[in-house]
Amino acid sequence: MDDQPEQAFRRAMSAFATGVTVVSAARADGRMSGITVNSLTSVSLQPRLLLWCLGDQSERYDLFAAAETWGVTVLSAGEQDLALRFARAEREGIDDGEAEIFFGAPVLRAGLAHLACRTHDRRLAGDHLIIIGEVTGFRAKPGDALTFYRGLYGRADDPRST
Ligand SMILES: Cc1cc2nc3c(=O)[nH]c(=O)nc-3n(C[C@H](O)[C@H](O)[C@H](O)COP(=O)(O)O)c2cc1C
Repeated sequence: MDDQPEQAFRRAMSAFATGVTVVSAARADGRMSGITVNSLTSVSLQPRLLLWCLGDQSERYDLFAAAETWGVTVLSAGEQDLALRFARAEREGIDDGEAEIFFGAPVLRAGLAHLACRTHDRRLAGDHLIIIGEVTGFRAKPGDALTFYRGLYGRADDPRST
């Protein structure tokens, strides 16, 4: 069915529906950058840890691999434009007005949930770097979520909304 094993693996993994996030960090000069990420996974409750995986081909590898403090913004259903934008290095810049510092980490003002993280550990795994963060602050609000499933964006309606 698939001519390339890599393509077949991608296709199999795309059956695992995820949310979509933007991981953000500040550069040395203070400018903020974001990258679209759907590899976010909760790891531990005590202490609170999460991870995401950074591809070694990303033009933003050096920035995010070295960042000690970073934020995660979980995107809501109407924020596909942000996911598209932060998937491209040339549009990674975050303006001051669209971000805020949350527990010391830059996050977007947009989004359904925000997590501030301090890097806890890094592990090379194949062509990705697993970045494990200790969560230093978090918040969430109700709303419909942006999803990524079979390579396409979609939405998950908030099952708790009336
Ligand atoms: C929905 C979606 C999820 C993504 N998830 C990840 C991810 O978990 N890790 C990652 O390194 N890149 C992920 N990417 C790719 C990056 O956002 C980005 O496109 C890639 O690093 C190339 O960026 P560059 O222009 O910096 O090279 C994702 C892209 C999309 C559209």
